[in-house]
Amino acid sequence: MKKIENIKVCAFDAYGTCFDINSAAENLASKIGNNWFSFSTTWRTVQLEYTWLRSLMKKHANFWKITEDALDFAMDIHEIDKSHRNELLELYKKLKPYPELKKCLLDLKEKQIKTCILSNGTPDLLDKLTTHAKVQELFDDIISIEEVGIYKPDPKVYELVTKKYLCKPEEVCFMSSNTWDIVGGGYYGYQSIWVDRFNKKFDNLGYQPNYKIKDLSDLIKML
Ligand code: LAC
Repeated sequence: MKKIENIKVCAFDAYGTCFDINSAAENLASKIGNNWFSFSTTWRTVQLEYTWLRSLMKKHANFWKITEDALDFAMDIHEIDKSHRNELLELYKKLKPYPELKKCLLDLKEKQIKTCILSNGTPDLLDKLTTHAKVQELFDDIISIEEVGIYKPDPKVYELVTKKYLCKPEEVCFMSSNTWDIVGGGYYGYQSIWVDRFNKKFDNLGYQPNYKIKDLSDLIKML
């Protein structure tokens, strides 16, 4: 495996990369029914669309409000009983961490490489997620886009990491399973590692990831 040199910090996307975004709907599958996965996909797709739209329109609302709005939209589309709304939202605060996350962070700590989350999530949401997953102490910093009030993939978001660690973009190793997030971080100048958990197709946005791994357990071999 190719080695990535001169890395000062490993920055992780949260939703979909460290935490399983489908685990909320999956947990309630017995109540939602067989279409829990397509419902979950709509919830996520609309949630992301709202982040992009609100950023373009300069009408920021935080990620929790957007998550609620997208949930209501997805519940209507898939005709999910509204009585599940609160439970789904509570589950979204406790999404399952991917099983290899903790070991990956411990390995990086042992190598004395700094680690942070860089996410659309609010500080409060990210605090709840990482606390529930018992990984909070393993991250050096948890960086939320709320610091700049605009969503990924605006370059101001990716700049948060280089400002925090006083480093160059190419000294940041960025992991995301979201293809468009890899494009955003890559255009900013990060070393990009696409975490392709589900054999997806990469976007046609004029940028290809520097590296591709299937989950976070491969990361340590590259550093
Ligand atoms: C995040 C979303 C994009 O955590 O997954 O920023």
